Amino acid sequence: MSILMEGISLAKEIKDRVRTEVQRLNDSGIEVGLALLLVGDNPSSRQYYLSTLKASKRVGIRTHEFRLSADASINEILNTIHQINRDERINGLLVLFPLPPRINARRVVNEISPEKDIDGLGALSIGRLSADESTFQLFQSDSKNETESNPCIRLSGITGFLPCTPYGVVRLLEYYDVPLRGKHAVVIGKSLAVGKPLSMMLLAKDATVTVCHKETADLGRITRQADIICSATGVRGLITREMVKEGAVIVDIGINVLKSGKIVGDVEFDGVKEKASFITPVPGGVGPVTIAMLLENTLMSAMRNEALNSPFQLS
Ligand SMILES: NC(=O)c1ccc[n+]([C@@H]2O[C@H](COP(=O)([O-])OP(=O)(O)OC[C@H]3O[C@@H](n4cnc5c(N)ncnc54)[C@H](OP(=O)(O)O)[C@@H]3O)[C@@H](O)[C@H]2O)c1
Repeated sequence: MSILMEGISLAKEIKDRVRTEVQRLNDSGIEVGLALLLVGDNPSSRQYYLSTLKASKRVGIRTHEFRLSADASINEILNTIHQINRDERINGLLVLFPLPPRINARRVVNEISPEKDIDGLGALSIGRLSADESTFQLFQSDSKNETESNPCIRLSGITGFLPCTPYGVVRLLEYYDVPLRGKHAVVIGKSLAVGKPLSMMLLAKDATVTVCHKETADLGRITRQADIICSATGVRGLITREMVKEGAVIVDIGINVLKSGKIVGDVEFDGVKEKASFITPVPGGVGPVTIAMLLENTLMSAMRNEALNSPFQLS
């Protein structure tokens, strides 16, 4: 029987720590600000937008809302980002995806100043992750106390933030004491938002990583070798019981909304849970941790800014 890796309790712990730290900054007259940019009215983007607004308010992060119509021009979007980049009250910017199809999403995300790229999806942030320049966030010996001990040097050394969903996956695995070093991790999906950065993070953690995608031949042959399977495709029922070895750890990142409104992942949960040692539920697994990571990255950005502004740095 498998252990359920629920994200709710980890997310709550992270949010509680963020709230305490935001309060501490507020007490010294410093506000933590998060901008949200929504273009158009895609239902899943709107849902994430509203959840992020609510979660930010709960931890005391001040939100700055930027909503543009679906027919906004690329110039309007870029000008809004420039305005946010210049605004000293704003520590992080979340652009909601998907953008309208006529907009080049990479052009948009690359315009976010790296210091405010708290979703870590810009080319510089991804490059720094690949170059192991931002992976030190993955190696805080006691991540449970990381925001309490905030030496200025560590904060000012942050050059890029880790993408929230894959970083949340790593934090969830660590929370449940799942060993990564030397394990064979199979990541299914190679998107810039999830699969690719997740594979780089697992590699940084000394796992042996195989990345699969649509063109992968005989997916089951590869997943059956995996100690850890992380599926991020959005294909309902892709991972079946026959594709999983006894005792494997299963992380289901996929989200599929059924006609009934029910949300399911990529994994055939009932069959697979009989063989897995650990498995995430959908919903309630990776999802809650993603927003918590976004809030934590926003806080880190504010603390870094504060550390850089401090006269201590100049002495
Ligand atoms: N829980 C969360 O917080 C959270 C956050 C973000 C995303 N998600 C969910 O995670 C899923 C993936 O998101 P994404 O942004 O990475 O999506 P995406 O950009 O559409 O990428 C999907 C990836 O899955 C691969 N894929 C599709 N069908 C496949 C198949 N039959 N076999 C093997 N690989 C296949 C694609 O391969 P190719 O590259 O070859 O096309 C692609 O790399 C979605 O369901 C999304 O809703 C969840």
